[in-house]
Amino acid sequence: MLNRRGLIGASLAGSALLSGKASAGETITKLDGPCVISTWDFGVAANQAAWAVLSKGGRALDAVEAGARIPEQDLKNHSVGRAGYPDRDGHVSLDACIMDELGNCGSVAALEHIAHPISVARRVMEKTPHVMLVGAGALQFAIEQGFQYEELLTPESKVAWEAWKKDAKYAPKANSEVGDYGKTTGQLGTPGGANNHDTIGMLAIDAKGNIAGACTTSGMAWKMRGRVGDSPIIGAGLYVDNEVGGATSTGVGEEVIRNVGSFLVVELMRQGRSPEAACREAVERILKKKPQAKDIQVGFLAVNKKGEVGAWAIQSGFSYALCDGKKQDLLLPGKATYQVAS
Ligand code: GLY
Repeated sequence: MLNRRGLIGASLAGSALLSGKASAGETITKLDGPCVISTWDFGVAANQAAWAVLSKGGRALDAVEAGARIPEQDLKNHSVGRAGYPDRDGHVSLDACIMDELGNCGSVAALEHIAHPISVARRVMEKTPHVMLVGAGALQFAIEQGFQYEELLTPESKVAWEAWKKDAKYAPKANSEVGDYGKTTGQLGTPGGANNHDTIGMLAIDAKGNIAGACTTSGMAWKMRGRVGDSPIIGAGLYVDNEVGGATSTGVGEEVIRNVGSFLVVELMRQGRSPEAACREAVERILKKKPQAKDIQVGFLAVNKKGEVGAWAIQSGFSYALCDGKKQDLLLPGKATYQVAS
């Protein structure tokens, strides 16, 4: 049972957001009415684009697509969309999925040369009898649907890739971008830190109370050609059940896939866990099966049907953005099992 203590913290002043402590030191944050949440600080701008849809009475599905397109088109964002860091052979390949309140879903994986994989994923959902298209087939479909073919490897990404190649011995490594992300800007990051963002996962509730989600990424930097992470896999990187809530993930996708992470979070909420407790249990499932996962980052973000939001990560440094009718730019730190010096 929740024991709400009213508003906490200056950042919440004047907001519809309520935070309080549940019995086991758990934080409950509640959004009212239409709302949208996203992973990482780039989620703030994405939420605002989604809010432009929700605030006019628009559908949650349209909101999350509009929001996900913001980091996809951001040339400074090297972990999502057109400026994403490439695989170890220099190919930018993108993964995305989308899911609506009816359980419809669409996905693309290892898609090259198309800047907005989230919109192609939506077309897969709406225009095909399938859920997932990959690689050359996904590209063929995107072109048939009128998406523009582009070279996505930006000059900055090329410089970073060439710097990585110098001493990486062509070896793919989870979170290897930790040592490389920001190298060209002098802003190296720690795992889960400010310079080691990856996926944007978004969840929205519209004025009708319907929930939709989107998830999009360029995946692990310098990955093997053809590697697919959790983000385009329904149940791993994203899951929505309109009766219960939605969940999404960020971080090293292999660990999320092994545990079907987002589906697990939603099912735990169905059994009565709060969003935070469900996200925490999913993280702890990963760590129990594989204790060495403490050295990489995975974060989950979830919302339930009541608009209660929670998150949990393996390592500190995760953040998530929240937006509702009262406040459109809130960013909160994700709680974590391990504290990592930044
Ligand atoms: N979570 C993004 C990835 O592993 O590709």
